[in-house]
Amino acid sequence: MQTLQARIRYYRDLGISQFYRRIAAPLSEIESVTAINPDLEPPIPPRKPAATLPTTFTASVDRAAGLSAIQHELHNCTRCPLAFQGRHTVVFGDGNADARLMFIGEGPGADEDAQGLPFVGRAGQLLNNMIAAMGLKRSDVYIANIVKCRPPQNRVPEPEEANTCAPFLFRQINVIKPEVIVALGATAATYLLGGKSPLARLRGRIHEVRGAKLIVTYHPAYLLRDPSQKKEAWKDLQLAMTELGVKAPKASSNADS
Ligand code: URA
Repeated sequence: MQTLQARIRYYRDLGISQFYRRIAAPLSEIESVTAINPDLEPPIPPRKPAATLPTTFTASVDRAAGLSAIQHELHNCTRCPLAFQGRHTVVFGDGNADARLMFIGEGPGADEDAQGLPFVGRAGQLLNNMIAAMGLKRSDVYIANIVKCRPPQNRVPEPEEANTCAPFLFRQINVIKPEVIVALGATAATYLLGGKSPLARLRGRIHEVRGAKLIVTYHPAYLLRDPSQKKEAWKDLQLAMTELGVKAPKASSNADS
């Protein structure tokens, strides 16, 4: 009995004061067991978990683990021809596993292939500016591509390549469960929506993909070639911000830089 009291004191020192009682075993049973071995403690009621971890933390750990599991499956992937056309790295994705907003591009370029991260070249710099204009940080969002390996000469991925790779992206979306996805360019829009349509027809409205709202905008590489379209892209980003309930910081009214 003294041991039991000592244990209760120990739990109290840890700040645990709530115990719940198991239906007590009949006294006769306890007595008979302790009678055989007098050092044996009487049964201690099972301890309630001291504190339940906040769900957000648990979900975050689960999401990070979910993404790692998918990434592990893609280690040295050879499922499509891109594996044999000069790629150095499988560019899995980058950002916050708990992101409410996801950006999806076409496929890694030379910089991304070298660094193993999506959108780190010139188009990536512009994407970073677009994200900042929205009042967000790159670490707030998650960024991925339709294909995870660099197409040679940055050509558009072949349907075989995109269709082989996209299921892994869909699994990433299922794990992250973003509220809003922004498709960057026609290739992302085509494979996310499951069919080809002119970008002009897809922009300016909300589509649905895997439980997320999908907004289509221009690819940053296209905006680098035709900066006059940045104003239009900003409208798309504002639509995403409205859906997310975020406001642009006062200083920035567009993604011009
Ligand atoms: N273009 C893309 O579509 N994705 C990248 O990661 C980089 C450039």
